[in-house]
Amino acid sequence: MLEGKKIVLGITGGIAAYKSAELTRTFVKQGANVSIIMTRNATEFITPLTLKTLSGNPVYADTFSLSGDWDVGHISLAEAAHIFVIAPATANIIGKIASGIADDLLSTTVMATKAPVLICPAMNTNMYNNSLVQDNIRKLSDVGYYFVEPEHGELACKAEGQGRLPSSEGILEEVITILTPKDLKGQNILITAGPTREPFDPVRFISNYSSGKMGYAFAITAKRRGASVTLVSGPTSLPVPHGVNFVGVSSALEMRDAVMDHVADSTVIIKVAAVADYRPALMSDSKIKKEPGTLSITLEQNPDIISEVGKIKGDRVLVGFAMETEDLLKNAYNKLLAKNMDLIVGNDLSRPGSGFQYDTNSVRVIDRSGDVRKFPLMSKINIADRVLDRVKKLCDQRGLPGSMGDVDRH
Ligand code: PMT
Repeated sequence: MLEGKKIVLGITGGIAAYKSAELTRTFVKQGANVSIIMTRNATEFITPLTLKTLSGNPVYADTFSLSGDWDVGHISLAEAAHIFVIAPATANIIGKIASGIADDLLSTTVMATKAPVLICPAMNTNMYNNSLVQDNIRKLSDVGYYFVEPEHGELACKAEGQGRLPSSEGILEEVITILTPKDLKGQNILITAGPTREPFDPVRFISNYSSGKMGYAFAITAKRRGASVTLVSGPTSLPVPHGVNFVGVSSALEMRDAVMDHVADSTVIIKVAAVADYRPALMSDSKIKKEPGTLSITLEQNPDIISEVGKIKGDRVLVGFAMETEDLLKNAYNKLLAKNMDLIVGNDLSRPGSGFQYDTNSVRVIDRSGDVRKFPLMSKINIADRVLDRVKKLCDQRGLPGSMGDVDRH
């Protein structure tokens, strides 16, 4: 995700400085070119040699020791950056930047950069909550500096509280979000994901193999592109994506209610969830006992949520998925027309690495004219990105967002 991007990583002197090694690896693995500036105190916690080895670039530890490819000292570092990340950031560096103090390589370079700056504070809880530190954070946020909030947990000083450096994945996600153009800003995108569970006694249910990965990939990607995202999700083991409005549900009936509650506010609805078409007609209050012979469970139909949305959607863009084991294109296109979708994404289940649970998928995207685009096997994040490109075009054609008006749910 970060190919061709130059990240300048500033490291300051806190115990979390050791985590900057993993952060460097995370950035490098994503294809970024990472240059590191350490304060003198940071070098007490982790050696420049470790970071030089991991980044593959010279590490700069003070203003007077610049060497390597950088020709004009801190100005070169400042100008080369696509993004500047300070992790961990102590109260000291936050205070210095907020006060316009530039007295070492890191603070002078931050002062000189026009790149976005992401500050990741990590410190003792009382320090973090100190009103002076909070005032500095507010002041910097107001003029466009980005912050990742520290996490709660046990701190190096043995106290419990907020102050831990967020995970490298969390910081990476913020970096990608900051660097992604916000072409979906203004769109309210409602996404469903995961399986539904249809119970027939207090300990058993009927469900399917959906992991939620495809739907969560849409939520993450749409949020990165600036959309306001509501994610209605059946039970999954995935972490809730940061910055989305999350609505957890279990059964198809609950999913229907959650979706209908949010349709009016949405400009785009993307139904990735694998909704059970049937549910047990009866729910036993107690665990069904094992008896000799067979057990029959009568099933009744669940509401077809996307069909209900299709009837009331107005100009909203409606995208569905199709899970077919035969005649994918014909069946998917018929579903699109029958349920009034704008696009349908058919999973190519014949392709290894495609469909339930994989991190990858291979799909065909069909529009109302019957035009079919084939996307080869790629990550679910990339599939979501490509489908959102199509969604964006439809939004532009319809002049969305605008006032979508109320919907009549009945
Ligand atoms: O979650 P993963 O492990 O990443 O797997 C992703 C996926 C394979 C589940 C996903 O890519 C996918 O195909 N989801 C839709 C599966 C499905 O239910 O297909 P369908 O052909 O049965 O349904 C067609 C459309 O109607 C879907 O958009 C579905 O959300 C919707 N539907 C279906 C039944 C129902 N009662 N209500 C609905 O809204």
